[in-house]
Amino acid sequence: MSVHKEVKRVTTHILQEMKNRGEKIAMLTAYDYSMAKVVDEGGVDIILVGDSASMVMAGHETTLPITLDQMIYHAASVIRGTTRALVIVDLPFGSYQGNSKEALNSAIRIMKESGAHGVKLEGGVEIAESIERIVAAGIPVMGHLGLTPQSIYKFGTYTVRAKEEAEAQKLKSDIKRIEEAGCFSVVLEKIPALLAKEVSESITIPTIGIGAGQHCNGQVLVVNDMIGLTKGFTPRFLRQYLDLFDQINGAVKSYIKDVKSGDFPSDKEQY
Ligand code: KIV
Repeated sequence: MSVHKEVKRVTTHILQEMKNRGEKIAMLTAYDYSMAKVVDEGGVDIILVGDSASMVMAGHETTLPITLDQMIYHAASVIRGTTRALVIVDLPFGSYQGNSKEALNSAIRIMKESGAHGVKLEGGVEIAESIERIVAAGIPVMGHLGLTPQSIYKFGTYTVRAKEEAEAQKLKSDIKRIEEAGCFSVVLEKIPALLAKEVSESITIPTIGIGAGQHCNGQVLVVNDMIGLTKGFTPRFLRQYLDLFDQINGAVKSYIKDVKSGDFPSDKEQY
């Protein structure tokens, strides 16, 4: 008798086939069990446990403060809520930049302690050795180029990257190097659409864009932004499908009114 559950989980091979046949890849973030369950049942291909949790879950200004332990906690909760999506987890700031051994140890902790299916690292040539070492250990690695939020204090702003020729050239050589190092996919964040098109066509692995235009092989959004929970965040690249902040706010106000007036609970809502 097989001990494996009969579930068709998305794999890195399936994602590669999707790029090969021109089928777009849909990725969303999730950070907890309940959201992961909704997003997974909705049918996304990849769930990213992003270090954006530092902002949308914990209220920090940047992604820098979140720790490896906290990422593992979020990732394990997400894993328990999924059966289909490939779950990729961000290595947080400070858990891999030291050297490739540190990067490998952090990646192993995520895989062992959360049950995730792969990790994501920000950067190009400077982290290629770490990518090679993690991939050699059998762990799928997703890259992340363009606007890399862990470097926000170097950039100074969240505006579009690689508009100048020198930065575009660096991105082109970075993407080749991390593909060669063994990445199965790469996120392109906030770069010009034409540059994203050029690099997506120059490599074999799928590119997943956020603010990188329609020619990427897939798209990713932060789920809280996409459902309108992050009030007042309206960058051009964001398509907001719900207005959940206002809807929940309205529900809370109705509940308070019902409690205060004595309307809740009614006869039918008591024992
Ligand atoms: O942390 C995150 O949510 C991300 C996405 C924006 C790609 O890295």
